[in-house]
Amino acid sequence: MAQSLDPYNREITYLRISVTDRCNLRCIYCMPVQDLKLLDHTDILSYEEILEVIRIASDLGVRKVRLTGGEPLLRRNVVHFVASVCRISQIEDVSVTTNGILLKEMAVPLFEAGLRRINISLDTLNPLKYRKITQRDCFDAVWEGLQVAEAVGFSPIKLNVVAIRGVNDDELQHFAELSVQRPYHVRFIEYMPIGRDSNWSPEKYISSDEIKCKLETFGPLHKIPRAVHDGPAERYRFESAVGEIGFISAMSHHFCPSCNRLRLTADGMLRPCLFADDEVDIKSPLRNGRSQEDLKEVFQLAIARKPKRHHAEVLVQGECIRPMSTIGG
Ligand code: GTP
Ligand code: 5AD
Ligand code: SF4
Repeated sequence: MAQSLDPYNREITYLRISVTDRCNLRCIYCMPVQDLKLLDHTDILSYEEILEVIRIASDLGVRKVRLTGGEPLLRRNVVHFVASVCRISQIEDVSVTTNGILLKEMAVPLFEAGLRRINISLDTLNPLKYRKITQRDCFDAVWEGLQVAEAVGFSPIKLNVVAIRGVNDDELQHFAELSVQRPYHVRFIEYMPIGRDSNWSPEKYISSDEIKCKLETFGPLHKIPRAVHDGPAERYRFESAVGEIGFISAMSHHFCPSCNRLRLTADGMLRPCLFADDEVDIKSPLRNGRSQEDLKEVFQLAIARKPKRHHAEVLVQGECIRPMSTIGG
């Protein structure tokens, strides 16, 4: 079986693909505060081009693909595209990270296309606060979409909660209860300083350890072992809970030693690390009709350029200027 190792002996098996930079929300932690520049349509990779990159990646050992955005479900004909990705036999795990607004209409067709699991961004269970965080009045749409996704059979459904001090740190009990009653994986994500013009500031950051301590006042959390395709979350469960609690601690306990991924931006750049703007252009060779072998070399070059670890810290903004909405997390 093909296998690609980076210079630090990490096996690259996971490709995160941003299929669009467009979004129907304006989350305060994601979009630039001003001057949001959207990509030109001609700069965005076509589905055929993305499929070509996935085939090359799978020949080089990639087994897991995640579609992100912006909001991936906004892109036209995305269901058809998902079906094509699900048909690539070497890809064992296909998933989507969405804000959930369109799931009410799209959960059934996505399931029929072969998708089985989704991650939904949901930072609050309070509709008014949802409006403050996302600058759009869409909580009910997301909640309905979540119910439809569950009824259709998506499993697991992971809820991404970016923990922000003074914004949603008063809702830990509600999220804890949700994980007890519903089969969702509620994951608290440490707020990351991505994008030069984002709203990030050190005072808004809360560590996973702090959240875990607070959650443990509601009952003991039992550790769950990692499964084969698991991402960076550390998994736990409250006693007799049907769902789970997860922690994604990119800042306090960075998981770089086990990093197994590359990212493909909507405009066709391979990004060796979320936090660093060093990128390898795969769009130009794709559009110049270069051979499969040449494209494989480009992919391998991106793997070879993976840094040992990221250097972002809570008090140092780091090197990432590109907004999160064009990388996809
Ligand atoms: P699963 O495969 O379902 O476990 O997915 P995931 O947790 O990798 O994906 P998701 O898109 O839901 O991302 C959740 C959070 O993890 C987002 O805030 C991502 O930015 C963050 N994340 C994912 N991969 C990395 C990574 O390599 N480095 C850092 N720093 N954060 C990451
Ligand atoms: N810090 C942490 N997580 C973020 N996300 C977006 N921006 C940030 C940030 N600055 C999350 C979204 C989405 C996932 C792909 O990344 O909430 O769920
Ligand atoms: Fe849109 Fe996701 Fe960014 Fe929110 S985090 S603005 S949902 S791309």
